[in-house]
Amino acid sequence: MKLQVKTGDITRLDIDAIVVNLFEGVSNPEGATQSVNKAMGGTISNLIDLGEIKGKLGELTLIHTQGVIKPKRVLVAGLGLKEKFDQDVIRSVSGSIVRFLNSKQIKNYATILHGGGGGSIKTEHAARSVAEGTLLGAYKFNGLKSKKAKQHIEQITIVEKDKSKIDDIKLGLDHGMTIASSVSLARDLVNQPANYMTPSDLVDIATDICEGTTLDLEVFDENKMRELKMGALLGVAKGSVVPPKMIIIKYTGDPKNPNNNIGLIGKGITFDSGGISIKPSGGMAAMKGDMAGAAAVISAMKAISDIGPNINVTAIAAATENMPGGNAQKPGDVVIAMNGTSIEVDNTDAEGRLVLSDAVSYGVQLGLKRIVDIATLTGAIEIALGKVTTGAFSNNPELVGQVIEAGREAGEKIWELPTFDEYRELYKSDVADLKNVGGRQAGSITGAMFIGEFAKEVAWVHLDIASTSTSAKTSGLVTKGATGIPVRTLIYLVLALSKD
Ligand code: BES
Ligand code: ZN
Ligand code: ZN
Repeated sequence: MKLQVKTGDITRLDIDAIVVNLFEGVSNPEGATQSVNKAMGGTISNLIDLGEIKGKLGELTLIHTQGVIKPKRVLVAGLGLKEKFDQDVIRSVSGSIVRFLNSKQIKNYATILHGGGGGSIKTEHAARSVAEGTLLGAYKFNGLKSKKAKQHIEQITIVEKDKSKIDDIKLGLDHGMTIASSVSLARDLVNQPANYMTPSDLVDIATDICEGTTLDLEVFDENKMRELKMGALLGVAKGSVVPPKMIIIKYTGDPKNPNNNIGLIGKGITFDSGGISIKPSGGMAAMKGDMAGAAAVISAMKAISDIGPNINVTAIAAATENMPGGNAQKPGDVVIAMNGTSIEVDNTDAEGRLVLSDAVSYGVQLGLKRIVDIATLTGAIEIALGKVTTGAFSNNPELVGQVIEAGREAGEKIWELPTFDEYRELYKSDVADLKNVGGRQAGSITGAMFIGEFAKEVAWVHLDIASTSTSAKTSGLVTKGATGIPVRTLIYLVLALSKD
């Protein structure tokens, strides 16, 4: 599927369909929608008068032109209320449009630039949102089906009357396509079954991403982990015959200022059976997605290296299975993390914080000045925030503010939960420095704070994506299965920090 921009009059194109839009409650359309309406002899206004077109968000009305104008069809897309219009509406509407027109077996369509009509959204950002929404709305995981779902759409053209806007639109489309391709990659990795997405498979993907770029890839195997004394990660890996890997990808965008850096650290449990504290079998298959944090940090690096911001970024993915093999760690075992902290493993199913304790310790040792860890950490986050919002936890108000703001720009909702010292009581152990579970209370907070213990003085944010990394339904730019959250937030964050 190709996205391009060209100048011209959309009503005169010889094409399968053109797309125009309408805000809710508008009875007299403006701009390109009005041009199309006039060329059609008032069909759109008639439908508005009849109450058939209301402009509600998500409303799609297909009109067959029957030769009255050159384009064969006109699709009128509702944008919802003008006051609520933002980049995320553009993404969502663009995603619904591409799926709708694909279902009509349309090959080529042209669209006006939603949000390009001189409102508060920059032209470049409107184009970026169209690209993100369109490509992500069209996303399908075809993985292992012998019959692939058909993608009919071949080409989408944004038609712009004003020549002076073309360069901005091109740049926006370019960034949007790069970002969407990283998000699609993350979705693919998470949707892939666990037998096709082992730690070694993640290494192969990382190798592909780094090839032919300036990204530097390092992979730690079990021996290296032992040498570095990563006892917490190795404790989790012990229960599986599949070897663990730690994947480190470095992007050097500001070589003169090594301290201008950020680390993105992902939980990469390629299957979480729970280990000896085994999970119930119902729904266990969903635990193939317990590497969504690792998928996000690896995928984000692809767009970061393509866009080339002026900052140094290190991604660390801690990848292993969590299995109940004969050599598995047992509840009550004590493991020693890389930084010397002893941990009582009270529940082997709280494995994410164990692998991350070593990954974060390693990041601190590398000299990272900011750390954002991303993990499908707790079922409790879905109880707190539902499937709408990612939970954020931090020791640094500035960094968490920047992460939340990047999420807002990216259209990925993030909300901060507290990390008050009083909660530390909950994960104290009688036999070790820390215990890997904190009981029923505040489960997402104790999980997060456990990881924060290893960040020490480094500015740190933890994102719990256990509920937001997958979606039960397709809607807007979201498709059923993996969402690719928070890849966009990570990319937008790195771009925003590189401007400081
Ligand atoms: N991977 C799970 C968390 C999870 C749950 C992710 C649902 C996605 C959907 C994690 O390793 C886990 O099992 N957490 C336990 C922690 C508990 C033992 C303290 C949980 O949430 O029950
Ligand atoms: Zn678990
Ligand atoms: Zn897990």
